[in-house]
Amino acid sequence: MTETQSRSQRQLHLGLFLFSTGYHPAGWRLPEAVTDGAFDPAFLKSVAQRLEQAKFDFFFLGDALATSADMQHQFPSQMVRLEPFTMIAYLAAVTSKIGLIVTANTTYAEPYHIARLTASLDHLSRGRTAWNVVTGADARAAQNFSRDKHWDNAKRYDYADEFVQVVKDLWDSWEDEAFVRDKASGAFVDGTKVHPLHHRGEQFSVAGPLNVARPPQGQLPLLSAGTSERSQELGARFSSAIFTGQILINEARAFYAGVKGKLAQHGRRPEELFILPGLVPLVGRTDEEARAKYRELSGLLVTDFDLAPLSGRIGIDLAGYDLDGPLPDLPQSSHPPEGVRALVRLAQDAAGHDDITVRELYHFFAATARGHLLIVGGPETIADRIQEWFETGAADGFNICPPYMPGGLDLFMDLVVPVLQARGLFRTEYEGATFREHFGLAKPDNKFARERTLQESRS
Ligand SMILES: Cc1cc2nc3c(=O)[nH]c(=O)nc-3n(C[C@H](O)[C@H](O)[C@H](O)COP(=O)(O)O)c2cc1C
Repeated sequence: MTETQSRSQRQLHLGLFLFSTGYHPAGWRLPEAVTDGAFDPAFLKSVAQRLEQAKFDFFFLGDALATSADMQHQFPSQMVRLEPFTMIAYLAAVTSKIGLIVTANTTYAEPYHIARLTASLDHLSRGRTAWNVVTGADARAAQNFSRDKHWDNAKRYDYADEFVQVVKDLWDSWEDEAFVRDKASGAFVDGTKVHPLHHRGEQFSVAGPLNVARPPQGQLPLLSAGTSERSQELGARFSSAIFTGQILINEARAFYAGVKGKLAQHGRRPEELFILPGLVPLVGRTDEEARAKYRELSGLLVTDFDLAPLSGRIGIDLAGYDLDGPLPDLPQSSHPPEGVRALVRLAQDAAGHDDITVRELYHFFAATARGHLLIVGGPETIADRIQEWFETGAADGFNICPPYMPGGLDLFMDLVVPVLQARGLFRTEYEGATFREHFGLAKPDNKFARERTLQESRS
């Protein structure tokens, strides 16, 4: 395949969704796994630099504003981690191409703060920063921010909608050409190109302008990840990419079509928004090697085998069943049987045989409790599935969640990425150096400069 052909072909977008001890709850217990990477700058630097060598689009770390020690057996990576702005500022200094996504919660922040922080990071990274807008998945945050309770979905998104618009306006408050810096005349700025906001809305009153120059990307790309209707609306209005968690391709296709279908009412085209489901690739040199690693991980789960959540998911009470016995007949009514059958099929594929036990189904369920697609297999098996999702309207790329670190990521980069590249599905070189350029998104004009150009063309 020639360079021109590969460039004109639609390309996958791949990013790392960092779980420092791995996505699999027992990932950190493997003998080869790193257990303290979350707080180790050398580890974070080596991961980011390796991603850049593999030509990944971005490095992403999620964030929450509360924690407790009882998260350790299910969500060890989310229990404690670095504050995102601090970490991304460090990674910006030790990388030069990879996109960097910072997560910031609108429910417990002020737009002026977030506009300053994000604009500053975009300067420090030379246009490689994007903002993952979240309204807070952990309700306990309220108790850390002097609030009685976490707001409900409607209030959080009312706040977020106005919040994001204010941040975007603050980013535009200095035009790109505002800085004259003319030593001869002594004019440092052209005041006609600096624009206070005088914003007075339902939630915020912000005078502006921002005390940071317009970010190199003009407007930082936004990402969002909620599943609610309001979150999808926010994504359709503002986001360049949406993270999702789906394990069934039909549901992923419906989500993809649904969100892209909302774009027209905001004057946007489907190509302006990228849908990126999470993917947990458990890679081996062969399918059997990958399954052996999956069995090893399953055996390391710390669990009391509480079958109630799994029973709820499949619509049949597993309480009386022998853990090492066969699965009961699947229900025909309560839950969509197609979804249940597909879940069991995925568990069978992961185990490598059809006659799985209740324990084996539980292992798969526990490994995917956070809702992302787990594929166990050799490089071709995993590349085939990625290609299927990419080419049949389920995904524009993936948020890669390695099951353990760093080996689970290394195997993906060393074995699967070359297969995707050989198939012409993924870049072999960066074509740009900013987050927007990795996604083929143009830098938006400053809104005041655009209005002036329009006025001039009319007069
Ligand atoms: C892949 C993915 C990543 C997410 N990362 C975060 C995160 O870092 N912090 C957070 O508070 N919520 C995160 N969420 C949750 C959503 O952003 C959202 O806040 C949550 O789902 C509640 O909103 P909803 O009611 O709109 O779904 C993530 C969701 C997904 C699917």
